[in-house]
Amino acid sequence: MQKIILIILTSISIAANAQTLPSTNDYFIVTPYLQIGAESNDTSLELLWHTKDTVSKWTVEFQQNENTSWIKSPKVFFNKINISNTAAFVVYNALITPVAAGNDFNYRVKLNGNIIFKSFAKAPKSFSQPYKFVVFGDIGAGSKSAKKIANEVYKANADMVAVTGDIVYEQDTIADYRKVFWPIYNAQKVDSIGVPLMSSIPFVAAVGNHDADSRDLNKLPDALAYYYFWSQPLNGPIAKEGSPLVPILNGSEENKNAFYTAAGKHYPSMTNFSFNYGNAHWTMLDADVYVDWNDSTLKQWVIKDLENSQNMTWHFVAYHHPGFSSSIDHFEQQQMRLLAPIFEKGKVDIVFNGHVHNYQRSFPLHFKPQNKGVLLVGGKENKNIRGRVVNGLWTLDKQFDGKENTKANGVIYIVTGAGGKDLYGVEQNNNPDSWQKFTNKFISNTHSFTEVLVNGNILQLKQIDANGNTIDNINLSK
Ligand SMILES: [Fe+2]
Repeated sequence: MQKIILIILTSISIAANAQTLPSTNDYFIVTPYLQIGAESNDTSLELLWHTKDTVSKWTVEFQQNENTSWIKSPKVFFNKINISNTAAFVVYNALITPVAAGNDFNYRVKLNGNIIFKSFAKAPKSFSQPYKFVVFGDIGAGSKSAKKIANEVYKANADMVAVTGDIVYEQDTIADYRKVFWPIYNAQKVDSIGVPLMSSIPFVAAVGNHDADSRDLNKLPDALAYYYFWSQPLNGPIAKEGSPLVPILNGSEENKNAFYTAAGKHYPSMTNFSFNYGNAHWTMLDADVYVDWNDSTLKQWVIKDLENSQNMTWHFVAYHHPGFSSSIDHFEQQQMRLLAPIFEKGKVDIVFNGHVHNYQRSFPLHFKPQNKGVLLVGGKENKNIRGRVVNGLWTLDKQFDGKENTKANGVIYIVTGAGGKDLYGVEQNNNPDSWQKFTNKFISNTHSFTEVLVNGNILQLKQIDANGNTIDNINLSK
């Protein structure tokens, strides 16, 4: 009898909770967040969330608007993460499809039939719809500035967010993500810590050195968490450890096997990929110094990727290490200049980078590398960082001003690495003599992010600081 009463009371309690939604802390390690997913297209998204190590009956439902019926996600996948220095947990993944391109939709996540979480989400845009996206890098500092920038990004109300690497400091561990990433970008509400961005807006990311450089799983068994937490297209070049794309993984067999099992098909290829969003094609690359961009497999893949996407109006490329930067920090890491001729041939409009913690915009430019680059060891204050200096000849389009003349002749390179980590080269802000000749705008005295509005053949780019002020503004047209 007591048992029956208990069951009745529990049922009443769950039913009551279903009205108000229970505390998410009771159910989630990380609440639901959106990804473009392995099969990125304009009618689907993936929803991921993390829970403790108990595989339970989770379901996801979505509706196009209040007047339409709820559709059940066909399947909820789960992946148990069992790493030696972290309590085992589960990453769930539900495909949400078909959604109407460009429209907001509602979704709810249920456990054993009870609603535990609900939100709205922005479906990807179709080719003909206008859209807004945000780009920023070096965001995972957990600093006051990172929080202020996150707040401004939230206010920008973008349709998609692209991160140009250094997603989390310091070492891409599961612990780092829990400390400096989820609480800020995937909060439940706007508060002094974070904002609810990722529950409604899909994030996409290129890896930075802090996301992919730790390859010793004995030192950091929970490193390389990028491969557990992101779900991005797997259409890049097929990679193997020890190849020009992927360094050898070190650690005990036990730690390595735990990593391989948890990372699954994401490792090691998910660092180079491409996708379409609206009328733009995006190519996301791994620019880390361990990658040899003289390798023909890599170059051929980028050439083909751009060739095959010429039906798209805009071409954006995103990666971490800028080839064209005027900062003293990381100046020797110019390896990505080797790809400039490929970008030009592929009609790339804008390259977005991070790594250097400030904002820089180049003139539209063409670049001819004179050689394959000189490999150096040691950068500023760091004897272990390699850098490849790539000399060459550049041609600048100084007629383009982004106001009267909006047709760019060449690729515009943007460094947008001022997302929250300590700023680089503040002393260069008012010293144009210290800038390279290809640099048109250099703002290093404030944190900032990039906002881009695209409407058909017209593009408006703004750089916005932590107080919401526009600090740079250009238009592009075709
Ligand atoms: Fe970096």
